[in-house]
Amino acid sequence: MDKKGPVKGRDMTMLTVWNDAAIGIKGDQVVWIGSTKESSILEASKTIDANGRLVTPGLVDPHTHLVFGGSREEEMALKQQGVPYLDILKQGGGILSTVRATREATYQELLEKALFHLDRMAMHGITTVEAKSGYGLDAVTELKQLRVVKEATTVHPLDIVSTFLGAHAIPPDYRDDPEAFLTDMSELFDVIKQENLAEFIDIFTETGVFSIVQSRRYLLKAKEKGFGLKIHADEIDPLGGTELAVELGAISGDHLAVTSDEGIQKLANSQTIGVILPGTSFYLGKDDYARARDMIDAGAAIALATDFNPGSSVTENLQLIMAIAALKLNLSPEEIWHAVTVNAAHAIGRGEQAGRIAIGRKADIVIWDAPNYKYIPYHFGVNHTNTVIKNGKVLYERPAIR
Ligand code: NIG
Ligand code: FE
Repeated sequence: MDKKGPVKGRDMTMLTVWNDAAIGIKGDQVVWIGSTKESSILEASKTIDANGRLVTPGLVDPHTHLVFGGSREEEMALKQQGVPYLDILKQGGGILSTVRATREATYQELLEKALFHLDRMAMHGITTVEAKSGYGLDAVTELKQLRVVKEATTVHPLDIVSTFLGAHAIPPDYRDDPEAFLTDMSELFDVIKQENLAEFIDIFTETGVFSIVQSRRYLLKAKEKGFGLKIHADEIDPLGGTELAVELGAISGDHLAVTSDEGIQKLANSQTIGVILPGTSFYLGKDDYARARDMIDAGAAIALATDFNPGSSVTENLQLIMAIAALKLNLSPEEIWHAVTVNAAHAIGRGEQAGRIAIGRKADIVIWDAPNYKYIPYHFGVNHTNTVIKNGKVLYERPAIR
């Protein structure tokens, strides 16, 4: 990835492939890039031979719901009967069933579970990840989730960027007064800032959840407090969340499955990154895949994420999302690689740290069991990582069976 980014529109097709390249790492940093031949001048204490395999920057997953209690495999049958996602939520299931499980879980249980999922992400080549709260919907549990993320950053090698998503659903006791609920959640902004518990504030702008007017008011408060903004926008109904993200200067608008033509145009003319989550369309059995092709053609910067969560996209595997992006969004392999590296990093405020292999940056590098970069979106549903390097250290190596 040559361009610093965010890489917009047609530029997303421009990447350079170095054949027979070598990378020098000192401590946690990339200090040298050249050809294998030139690398003989380096005095290396350890050499890893990639043996002709593909080597890329570590993947960046810019949208996950990492911390939650329980699981929702029982909902699969409801989905198969055709019960819509928002109806399950209305009946107190869906997000609200995970809220009950997350409230019941202890801090330690949530931490162990989050670390387990982080391990799996790392195995799949992710070296930087965003993590949202949003399964507490009360002060105690939301802060519990955020503190779990904070502790996870100290004990897990992956870089984790935290987002407060207290406005993820209306809890039953506030059913008739969503405004009061949003006020309560916004009262947490100060403690979140003081304890450095999150960089971004996110909201689910959707029918039966929060309206455009409520979302705007809530996010403006967050902006005043100095937070970056994100929106779960236009996932199921086209309320105009994409336009709102642009209007407020949000760092990203996420989902965008049913964004209007006007929304696409506004996104293209803005600095806001469209974070597309095609695993969710796939998992919810929707025909509405985000029009990422039109967005890029219009000049927008697009990133891809797993949306890893227990209800609408149950996977830690960003490689699978890359395949879905090729098959369902019609993106080229070059666009897909930008979307999971440099643009994904920009979508979570890490454009200067992650998403590219460059001198002076952290050595977050993946060696793939693949002959070239087009291979990863092509061969779907399995893990292609051979070696994952984070901060200059080998984090994962594919175990030998024979
Ligand atoms: O990004 N849309 C809202 N939130 C999540 C799903 C959360 C859940 O179902 O538990 C999403 O799809
Ligand atoms: Fe999400």
